[in-house]
Amino acid sequence: MIHQEQILQKTKDFVKIRLQNDASGHDWWHIYRVWKVSLLLAKEENANLFVVQLAALLHDIADWKFTGGDDQMGIAISDEWLSSLGVENDIKQHVCRIISDISYKGAGVATPMKSIEGMVVQDADRLDAMGAIGIARAFAYGGSKGREMHHPDSKPLIHETFEAYKKNQGTTINHFYEKLFLLRDRMNTKTAANLAKKRHKLMEDFITQFMLEWEGTT
Ligand code: ADP
Ligand code: NI
Repeated sequence: MIHQEQILQKTKDFVKIRLQNDASGHDWWHIYRVWKVSLLLAKEENANLFVVQLAALLHDIADWKFTGGDDQMGIAISDEWLSSLGVENDIKQHVCRIISDISYKGAGVATPMKSIEGMVVQDADRLDAMGAIGIARAFAYGGSKGREMHHPDSKPLIHETFEAYKKNQGTTINHFYEKLFLLRDRMNTKTAANLAKKRHKLMEDFITQFMLEWEGTT
């Protein structure tokens, strides 16, 4: 097996090229942020840094939102990529398991992670959907899908299945109630739960101000 640092560098280059033209909030810089925050959390939580970094780098390599709903493609690509680098089987399986379990699947769907490494990467991914960056990503995603920002008659939905969540066509403001405001209380690690508080508050203030401006009341 080639050295871990080389594997990480090659994986970074691979992901950068694959995600370079994305304008939906899943670009390389999302991966960069998730990678950095994952490292920070992993050190606090004593998680395996190699597994955490590989999973952070590969977690959105083929997101189901851009594969026509196929949520297995990312796992297949990651498996093939890690095999081509000669990564040991147990590490490869661990990374692929994290990629398979990580994503948000609707308000009513539990998404438990099976290892501390998975918990760390899921927390880092979810932190990047919150706060200032989270707000920006939500509108970037909504715009890329041609969604309305807001419609006063359109109410948020509580999705009880992943299938229902996948079919969702709602406004970007509804997405705050369908996902973003629920993330703070779903953090796996204490470190991430603390970081989530500030980001949650910022989103609350943003929505309050958005609604005031919507009605021209301030
Ligand atoms: P992550 O990359 O954190 O797993 P997702 O892949 O679910 O998150 O979504 C990527 C970004 O796009 C996130 O910031 C997310 O909140 C946003 N997003 C996903 N679905 C919607 C939606 N229906 N409307 C607005 N933003 C969305
Ligand atoms: Ni992500």
